[in-house]
Amino acid sequence: MVKVITYGTFDLFHQGHVNLLERARKLGDYLIVGVTTEHFDEARGKINVVDSCLERVENVRKTGLADEIIIEDHAGQKIEDIQKYQIDIFTVGSDWIGTFDYLNALCKVVYLERTPNISSTMLRSSHFQRVKMGIIGTGRIAARFMAEEKYVSGMNIICAFNPETESGKRFQDSYGVQVESEHYSEFLNKVDAVYIASPNETHYEYAREAVAAGKHVLCENPIALNRQDAEGLFKQAGEREVVLLEGIKTAYCPGFQQLINTARSGQIGEIRDIEACFTRLADPYSRECTDALYGGAFMEYAAYTLLPIFKLYGTHYKDVHIRSIQRADGLDLYTKIDLLYEQGLATAKCGVGVKTEGQLVISGTKGYLLAESPWWLTRKYKLCYEDPNKVETFEPKFQGDGLRYEMSEFVAQINKVDKNKYLLTQDEIAAISEVTELFIEERMRWKHKDGIEEPKRARQKKE
Ligand code: CTP
Repeated sequence: MVKVITYGTFDLFHQGHVNLLERARKLGDYLIVGVTTEHFDEARGKINVVDSCLERVENVRKTGLADEIIIEDHAGQKIEDIQKYQIDIFTVGSDWIGTFDYLNALCKVVYLERTPNISSTMLRSSHFQRVKMGIIGTGRIAARFMAEEKYVSGMNIICAFNPETESGKRFQDSYGVQVESEHYSEFLNKVDAVYIASPNETHYEYAREAVAAGKHVLCENPIALNRQDAEGLFKQAGEREVVLLEGIKTAYCPGFQQLINTARSGQIGEIRDIEACFTRLADPYSRECTDALYGGAFMEYAAYTLLPIFKLYGTHYKDVHIRSIQRADGLDLYTKIDLLYEQGLATAKCGVGVKTEGQLVISGTKGYLLAESPWWLTRKYKLCYEDPNKVETFEPKFQGDGLRYEMSEFVAQINKVDKNKYLLTQDEIAAISEVTELFIEERMRWKHKDGIEEPKRARQKKE
């Protein structure tokens, strides 16, 4: 009996897939089809697959061409499968010519001619709206966003807005996108969606106007400086039927979701303490260190550190205490947020002027999870127990600097693929905004900041 094996994602199952399977079947007597898992596709940089693994398996099964269907979930598995299933022929389409020649050492490799003019990529782009995107703000984060664009299908950055002409001009020269500096409404007219990466205090107003104009909004954190504004924005977005996402990139990273799910799985028992820490000694001339009202440790990093706490304990804390080490001008160099819950304790620590091990520790009644810095990208974490020999290490997939995951989620939601709305909920965003409001109130009370003007919503734009 001649055994044949082939692999694929088989997303949005199409005629090219059917043709390939028919021809693969004819190469032998028994056909095994390997279908990729979501995680494996993500690891290979395919982050916009529409159908779930089970749906894709089901579509292959319905053709009746596969004698057996297996799941492909890691690099190197093809070699294992060829040996395990005693395969005679490995086959894939001609788009892969040369790539799998190394398997000739184990079996015969056949590249079948690919069906012209059809692919899952084509179907995804014709099914989905290609989002015309504008960036507000042209600083460091905007530059990172530009660099990640090529990894996200369905997004096209066409222009930017910045009232500061110098920075705008530099951006235009570097990236070749037109930068508007005068009229926000004209800029909005050109786009379907905006990414807000302007100074913190301007986020809310830019977001509000963009939503009012019917534009989808991906807004860097903080999206708002209090709960009421955050909730108001979401209400308005609901009425205008536009997508509104806050850019806390950790929430969208696959490794972070895996870490949260491991913590929820009961393997560490009942969770009793969460300690999340994010410190980065910033350049003294950077915005984080010079803007006493909207820079500082809390504004920069609190959203990241509160995220695992709200994900695991929920947003109904019983008590919260916020303490900071401040500079003479009131900028918080280091801030500690202690939260008390029915089931346990939590601490979020952030710093721009104090350095510490930036780790996330989730402690339970049976063991603990430890994710070392940079846990907010979650490339690695450990599951530990009383017995130091019993340690399990997880190394989830992670690509680029993480922004591509939130970008691709944004495009998916615009195209009404709403499967992942749990990644960062409106309730979690409102709770983060509520703690931000408490921090601002607290700061007002601190005696060191006498004479310092408190945050007002202001947008530095000419119109
Ligand atoms: N295939 C084919 N003809 C096509 C498209 C795919 O023969 N027009 C083959 C591929 O070469 C592969 C298998 O079908 O052997 C599964 O391919 P997959 O990557 O899932 O499909 P694509 O349409 O190529 O997907 P994408 O556009 O996401 O790369």
